[in-house]
Amino acid sequence: MKLISAKNYSDMSQVAASFLLGKIKNTDRLTLGLATGGTPIQTYNFLIKDHKENNTSYQHVTTFNLDEYVGVATNDPRSYHHYMDDMLFTSIDIPKTQTHIPDGVAGNLEAECDRYEQKIAASGGIDVQLLGLGSNGHIGFNEPGTAFDTKTHVVDLTEATRKANARFFDHIDEVPKQAITMGIATIMRSKEILLLVSGERKSNALAQLLEGKVDPAFPASILREHPNVSIIADHDALGDI
Ligand code: GLP
Repeated sequence: MKLISAKNYSDMSQVAASFLLGKIKNTDRLTLGLATGGTPIQTYNFLIKDHKENNTSYQHVTTFNLDEYVGVATNDPRSYHHYMDDMLFTSIDIPKTQTHIPDGVAGNLEAECDRYEQKIAASGGIDVQLLGLGSNGHIGFNEPGTAFDTKTHVVDLTEATRKANARFFDHIDEVPKQAITMGIATIMRSKEILLLVSGERKSNALAQLLEGKVDPAFPASILREHPNVSIIADHDALGDI
């Protein structure tokens, strides 16, 4: 794993956006895996700024998001569908048909997981997967204990994750109890992975990722076995490392 140190959240986001733009501008066809949560927001802001200033096109880009809540309608402001439209998609020229997010209100969730997994494979696979890091080591919504060979599946969210995401809802009771997420095997099949880590509240998780053993109890630890991972972490997340 390659570790890139950034001064702060803004610097991390700028480095991440430059990294992604290097791929977006220099390929005829690109499949990006995207993440939600607080961490990538400013990275997306920088991509939008660049699109406005330099007219960078996304016509050749296809995207697959990591996850979506179960039972939250796509037009609900708390859905990841809404988040992606709001934070990125409606501000760049990516065709809507080229953006993919699991359908958390599908009638048959298992069938939706299979459909999503097949869709990723049919696209030729993910070239670059953007990831955030859960404080408990989750990636996507793969909670501690998830087997490393999982494909896209339905997960029960831990109380820790529901609490961490409660800031996006009016009340903890409104945070969904389940989500659809790409599996660990799905993420590991990406050709390249870019992990963003910011803030002191992630410092323990980052230390465990860098120094701990590979163990399903800490899902992100599997990234140590991927051949092409870059971590961009800010000083607060790096702590004494
Ligand atoms: C969330 C998301 C992940 C995200 C992670 C970190 O629960 N499902 O995709 O990367 O947890 O979130 P944040 O960036 O808000 O700290």
